[in-house]
Amino acid sequence: MKVAIGADHGGFKLKAELTELLQELGIDYTDFGTYSSDSIDYPDVAIPVAEAVTNGEFDRGILICGTGIGIGIAANKVKGIRAALVHDTFSAKATRQHNNSNILTMGERVIGPGLARDIAQIWLETEFEGGRHENRVCKISDYEVK
Ligand code: RB5
Repeated sequence: MKVAIGADHGGFKLKAELTELLQELGIDYTDFGTYSSDSIDYPDVAIPVAEAVTNGEFDRGILICGTGIGIGIAANKVKGIRAALVHDTFSAKATRQHNNSNILTMGERVIGPGLARDIAQIWLETEFEGGRHENRVCKISDYEVK
């Protein structure tokens, strides 16, 4: 699996924690920045990461900002992206099983690094269930091509 990871200034510390996790799990990743607390605009990271996932260069993406909200809204504007804002382990598993989410978003100002690592690991390791959920996800893709 190849993962694209990115953050704005509100999420760059948590991004560092999560790149460590990706290394521990032996997952190939590319860090799209940002690398400091200097203010940047979250769409400038969200859109390149989302495009890299939707064009097949990467299998999944992880995006972090202060809340996880803005960066997720921006990512979800890119066709083919199903970005899920997750701050609990139940939803981390469910959004992979039911929504086949291809980007995980979290907020550094919302949760601590321990929970964020657990969420990311569960999300990375859980497969889409397909079945009845396939049709639901297809309805979203069908709407995108209208
Ligand atoms: C940046 O201050 C903050 O607005 C951003 O990281 C994010 O929380 C937006 O949704």
